[in-house]
Amino acid sequence: MTIHKVGVVGAGLMGAGIAQTCAQAGYEVVVREINQQLLDKGLSRVYSAWDTMASKGKLTPQQVEENHARVRGTLDFADFADCDLVIEAVIENMEEKLRLFPALDHVLKPDALILSNTSSLNITQMGAVTKRQDKICGLHFFNPAPVMKLVEVVQTISTSPTTLDTVKQFAVSLGKTPVLAKDTAGFIVNFLLIPYLLAAIRMLENGMATRDDIDAAMKLGCGYPMGPFTLLDYVGLDTTMWAAEAIYEEYKDPLYAPPPLLRRMVISGMYGRKSGKGFYDYQ
Ligand code: 3HC
Repeated sequence: MTIHKVGVVGAGLMGAGIAQTCAQAGYEVVVREINQQLLDKGLSRVYSAWDTMASKGKLTPQQVEENHARVRGTLDFADFADCDLVIEAVIENMEEKLRLFPALDHVLKPDALILSNTSSLNITQMGAVTKRQDKICGLHFFNPAPVMKLVEVVQTISTSPTTLDTVKQFAVSLGKTPVLAKDTAGFIVNFLLIPYLLAAIRMLENGMATRDDIDAAMKLGCGYPMGPFTLLDYVGLDTTMWAAEAIYEEYKDPLYAPPPLLRRMVISGMYGRKSGKGFYDYQ
C-alpha cells in the first residue's frame, strides 16, 4: 500500500512533532484538534521549528514554504476521508481513545490504517472497537519526534503482516529506525525507562541526593544526554505518570507504581516544561 496523505489527531507536543516529521518527509498532512486555539498553538509550534531550522541553514526558504503547503489544520474528522494512514496522538486516556477509534473507523476509507502513538496503553483494545482490527497497530515516537531516530512499531494480536510491512516502510521513509514490539504495556522503551525515572523521584523523596546531583550523575556518569529530572520535565510529568499507571495496571509490579511526589506534582499542574514548572522552573 502506498501512503500519500497522513492524518494526525492531536496537535500537542507529540502530535505537532509527528505532523512536522511527516510534512518534512514529503507527505501531505492534515492535523486535527478539538478547538481552534489548540490547533493554532500546535501549528505555530511546527512553523517555528521550521523557522529555527531555516535560521541554522538546515532548510532553504523554499523548503520551508513547501513544508507549510503540505500541512493543513482542521477541526473536522471528515477531512481525514482521503487519508491513507492516520496517527492518533491524543491524551493518554483509554476512554478518549475508545471514543476516537470508532469515529476514525467511520470516516476513513476501508483500506486506511489507524496507528496509535500511545506510549503504553492497550492498542488491541483500541482496535477492538473498529471493524478494521488488522489495519491497526502502534507507531510510538519519542520526544522530540522530529529529532529522535527511533519509532516502536507495536503489533497487536490482530495486526496483519501487510499492515506491519507498510508501517515499517513508512517509518523508514520518515528517516526513523523502526523496532518491532508486541502490544504489552510500555512496549520496549517505557518498560525500561519508566522504572529508571521513578527510581530517581524516589531517591529525591528519600533525600538520598539532590535533584541537581542526580541529574549530573546520570548525565556525566552514564553519558545520557539529559539527567532523569531534566528528562522528566522534557517528556512531561503527566505523560510519565500515565505511562507508569498503565504499566502498573498490567503487571501490578511496584516498580511501576507512581511515587507520591509525582502524583502530587501532576495534581498541582506541574507538568514540566510545557506548563512552565516541573522539577525545574521554566518561567
Ligand atoms: N524540530 C527540529 N529540530 C529540532 C527540534 C524540533 N522540534 N527540537 C530540537 N531540534 C534540533 C535542534 O535544532 C538541534 O539541531 P542542531 O544540532 O543542528 O543545532 C538538535 O535538535 C539538538 O537540539 P539542541 O541543540 O536544542 O539541544 P541538545 O543537543 O541538548 O539536544 C535533545 C536536545 C535532542 C532533546 C537531547 O537532549 C536528547 O536527546 N535528550 C533525550 C531525549 C529523550 O530521551 N527522549 C525520549 C524520551 S522518552 C519518550 O519520549 C517516550 C514517551 O512515551 C514517554
